[in-house]
Amino acid sequence: MLLEVKNLHKRFNDKEILKGIDFSIDSGEVVVIIGPSGSGKTTLLRNLNFLESADQGTLRLQDQQIDLANPTKEQVQWVRRHTAMVFQNYNLFKNKTALQNIAEGLIYGQGIEQKKAEAIALQALKTLGLEEQKDHYPSQLSGGQQQRIGIARATVLHPEIVLFDEPTSALDPELVGTVMDDMQHLAKQGQTMIVVTHQMWFARNVATRVIFFADGHIVETGTPTEIFEHPQKERTRQFIVTGGKLLVRWDD
Ligand SMILES: Nc1ncnc2c1ncn2[C@@H]1O[C@H](COP(=O)(O)OP(=O)(O)OP(=O)(O)O)[C@@H](O)[C@H]1O
Ligand SMILES: [Mg+2]
Repeated sequence: MLLEVKNLHKRFNDKEILKGIDFSIDSGEVVVIIGPSGSGKTTLLRNLNFLESADQGTLRLQDQQIDLANPTKEQVQWVRRHTAMVFQNYNLFKNKTALQNIAEGLIYGQGIEQKKAEAIALQALKTLGLEEQKDHYPSQLSGGQQQRIGIARATVLHPEIVLFDEPTSALDPELVGTVMDDMQHLAKQGQTMIVVTHQMWFARNVATRVIFFADGHIVETGTPTEIFEHPQKERTRQFIVTGGKLLVRWDD
């Protein structure tokens, strides 16, 4: 088992947002988290790499057992070195080029010499077919290109797990596919991923496991077929049926 979370609780003010979350992930799994807006999905991801501090819970990543409410500085750094997060709004450095954005983490996070880091970054851009954009600043890139560079920036660091928080929700519909293609490619290469998304076709076709999350807890988890075709819980069924009308392009 690569990652195990136990009894994760988080409240904001007096409202409990995460009500005791338990789950585990094996190496190579693509776990897609679906669920209604405001249910706590982003909060869950942010707690996993200490962008928020949990009130209670434990996390085990590889052989490290960590108290999520009281991590040491070293543990926080260790988890951040072994995970990467891709956000909805790209979060690229605006004053750095595409190439520099990808090279940045290699240089400052991993101590790789600048020339070598830039060579790795260039190779990543070539693989994506974005070599021509290497000297472009984020303002000169489309949203889709920015997000693809955001994903490359995260994955050149070879994290154990990449956490995606609705990576395509800020994109024009015709750009969603390009980003999802990159993610599907990563999945095929065996990258372990946790993906929060409203793209149901991705959940259906790429996930090894789907978690349906609502009201601060995991309602149900299963294979895409189990969740989409034979949901066990009424709450899941409701969401899938509504989602079916509003969100799903089943045949994609
Ligand atoms: N920093 C914060 N302070 C107070 N409340 C917060 C904070 N961050 C999130 N919340 C609240 O926690 C709840 C869960 O928010 P969260 O962003 O995790 O939901 P979500 O499932 O990611 O929703 P969406 O699908 O819309 O992104 C919401 O009610 C939100 O208002
Ligand atoms: Mg969210």
